[in-house]
Amino acid sequence: MICVAIANQKGGVGKTTTAINVVTAFAAAGWRTLLIDLDPQGNASTGLGVHTPDRLRSSYEVLVDEVSLSECAQPTSIPGLDLVPSTVDLSGAEVELVGVEGRVRRLRDAIARERAYDICFIDCPPSLGLLTLNALTAADTLLVPLQCEFFALEGLSQLLQTVDQVQKRFNPDLGILGIVLTMADKRNRLSDMVGDDVRASLGKLVFDVSIPRNVRLSEAPSHGLPALVYDQGCAGSRAYVALTREMMTRLPKRKIAA
Ligand SMILES: Nc1ncnc2c1ncn2[C@@H]1O[C@H](COP(=O)(O)OP(=O)(O)OP(=O)(O)O)[C@@H](O)[C@H]1O
Ligand SMILES: [Mg+2]
Repeated sequence: MICVAIANQKGGVGKTTTAINVVTAFAAAGWRTLLIDLDPQGNASTGLGVHTPDRLRSSYEVLVDEVSLSECAQPTSIPGLDLVPSTVDLSGAEVELVGVEGRVRRLRDAIARERAYDICFIDCPPSLGLLTLNALTAADTLLVPLQCEFFALEGLSQLLQTVDQVQKRFNPDLGILGIVLTMADKRNRLSDMVGDDVRASLGKLVFDVSIPRNVRLSEAPSHGLPALVYDQGCAGSRAYVALTREMMTRLPKRKIAA
């Protein structure tokens, strides 16, 4: 199983939107896919139509009680896609795990025991705390959504420093799958300039496909559906399908069959 963390400590940059739509595209392509909602906000769970009363077991139990992923995963309305939902309990996990040895490796251990999926994605919260550290320690590779706005690059260097520390201390094999520009607006010169700037400084790390600003992408979660199901033909959905294709060419081959 390949494990992809979707992280950026900046809030509202499109992590969850990317997670929901990319997992849907992987599942549609026949991959047995798992999404782990590792954000106490639970937006990925809500966006997939799994509301609070239906969240029977959650990522909190995986981290704090060491319950297995398969016991916490539940099917979604998308064939081939399971979800480990999150609840607000997760916001206490960091404090509850203080002083617990190996707390950074909780998720990694759970994933190492899992055999039922081809690929697993982790939707991270907007911070670089214990939850995101667990995700980076568990992941084979990292996907970074980056919003096309003025301060985009500032936060990125901090994230890349964290990746460096995780590689040194917990997960030497952590790779960077790439950076995807989100909410790109062709009619907005600033958005264009930021895009060019990011590509100039980060080169091949940046995916060719960028995700346009598209109102259908922001409407879909209120219907509990991925945009890919809500409106398959909209520009945002088409971009996420193209991004998924590009991601597939970049995934670490050695892990695909494993
Ligand atoms: N390409 C897009 N076009 C228009 N709206 C978008 C797009 N991507 C995301 N949004 C909207 O922007 C808001 C933030 O997106 P999202 O929740 O995916 O970001 P996030 O990084 O997961 O946020 P958080 O850091 O709070 O978890 C949401 O309301 C979402 O619907
Ligand atoms: Mg989110």
